[in-house]
Amino acid sequence: MINRRYFSGALAVLCTTPVGAANRPNMTMHRSPTCGCCGAWAAYIRRAGFSITIVNESDLAPIKSGAGVPDALQSCHTAFIDGYVVEGHVPVEAIEKMLSERPAITGIAVPEMPTGSPGMEIPMMKPEPFKVIAFSQMGSSETFMDYPNGFIAGR
Ligand code: CU
Ligand code: CU
Repeated sequence: MINRRYFSGALAVLCTTPVGAANRPNMTMHRSPTCGCCGAWAAYIRRAGFSITIVNESDLAPIKSGAGVPDALQSCHTAFIDGYVVEGHVPVEAIEKMLSERPAITGIAVPEMPTGSPGMEIPMMKPEPFKVIAFSQMGSSETFMDYPNGFIAGR
C-alpha cells in the first residue's frame, strides 16, 4: 500500500507548483548515505531544473515496500514527485512524460543500475540497454520508455 500520509503531505506542498522548465515540482529522494551513484543521479536531476530533497536512510526496504515498488523493479534510491514514485536511475525525459501525461500508475522504475543510465555513467564503459518500467498498485507493470542502445545524454 502507498503510504497515504506521506503522499498527502507531499501533495499539499506540491500542488501549487506548476510544471515548467524553470519551476518544477520538488522531488524527495530516499537513499543510503553510502551510495555514490544516488548522489550523481540527484545532481543530474538538479541540473535539469528540479529541486530535490535528499533523505538518508539506514534501511530503504520499508520505503520501497511502502511506495509499492515491486521487488523485481528495485534499484538503489527511491524518489517521490507530484504523487508519483521514481525508482532508480530514471532519465528526466521519462519523469517529464509521466508528469505531463499523468498516467494512472504508481510510478516508474529503472531496475538495478544499468551502466550509462543517468548517474551511472562509467568512463570507457559502453551504455547498457535498459527500459523504464511503469508499475501500479494492481501489480501490473509495462514498458514506459525503451533505451535499446542505452542512455546517451543530450539525445
Ligand atoms: Cu544507483
Ligand atoms: Cu541511487
